[in-house]
Amino acid sequence: MAQQFEDKFHRKFYYLRLSVTDVCNFKCTYCLPDGYKPSGNKNSSFLSLPEIKRIVTAFADCGTNKVRITGGEPSLRRDFPEIIETVANTPGIDKVATTTNGYRMANQVDTWRQAGLTNINVSVDSLDPRMFHQITGENKFHQVMSGIDKAFEVGFEQVKVNVVLMKDLNAGELPAFLHWIKNKPIQLRFIELMQTGEMDELFQKHHVSGVAIRNQLIADGWILKARGVNDGPAQVFVHADYLGEIGLIMPYEKNFCASCNRLRVSALGKLHMCLFGECGVELRDLLQEDSQEQELIARIQAQLANKSVSHFLQDGNSGSTPHLASIGG
Ligand code: 5AD
Ligand code: SF4
Repeated sequence: MAQQFEDKFHRKFYYLRLSVTDVCNFKCTYCLPDGYKPSGNKNSSFLSLPEIKRIVTAFADCGTNKVRITGGEPSLRRDFPEIIETVANTPGIDKVATTTNGYRMANQVDTWRQAGLTNINVSVDSLDPRMFHQITGENKFHQVMSGIDKAFEVGFEQVKVNVVLMKDLNAGELPAFLHWIKNKPIQLRFIELMQTGEMDELFQKHHVSGVAIRNQLIADGWILKARGVNDGPAQVFVHADYLGEIGLIMPYEKNFCASCNRLRVSALGKLHMCLFGECGVELRDLLQEDSQEQELIARIQAQLANKSVSHFLQDGNSGSTPHLASIGG
């Protein structure tokens, strides 16, 4: 194995988030309120299957064992099952995850599983169909919920559900969400709204800290679970009376970045050290031949020397990231 990816703060990177498209068919108010708009550059195609294979191979050869396929909405790519298969067949990769808006899940999750998908995250920002519509711009609540049922049917043991927490919109839905996961193996993750370059008013109006939810959970007997080496920055709570779990993702809390274990590659083949604050380093010229692997690894290693200790979001920094659909959440 080549030298494991590690930065100067001794954080090790086992986990790659690979975006395969910027395109999305939802219009989440916190991400793409006006829907996806093509960049206008006709030459900019998204990563091809052979390019994806070369990226994942290089990462796996340096210790990565988990890949999350993200977007935009990754399942809008017609070759999504082949992408899953390519990642799953890479020696060293044992977890293949995706984050989806759930639009195609009811119809396709069986195929995804057969292709080798091991973990699934789906966004459900509200359990009230009208609120769901208001937040995502799509009246697809029931379709997404049947996608989740289908995922269990085809054999996923747990499904993770993302909820972006927003004051005056869904922040009061904790009781409904708790009721929902009582007898279902769902890990429900409340994510604090993050400020990106294209949003300001929404953030000011709707950002709310997860602290109130955390206090409520602790008061109700929920217990913080110890974090495994491969786990992300979520604080996960469990309760003897619930099959489901609750995760809190609070990027504005001190030390949030200390547990960072992931690197990101955008759908156009740029390496990002962080969701925030930089514009990414071109990898695509080194994805054209298998024989370029060592050069590719060397470029990634060189960038790791620059990874910053924190995103500095708490200082009002939203960096150059216009919205998370451009870099995959
Ligand atoms: N703040 C917090 N989470 C976001 N996501 C997208 N944009 C934001 C934002 N501004 C998350 C959503 C979605 C995933 C793809 O990215 O949780 O589930
Ligand atoms: Fe699409 Fe996800 Fe962005 Fe919503 S958050 S618009 S589903 S990419």
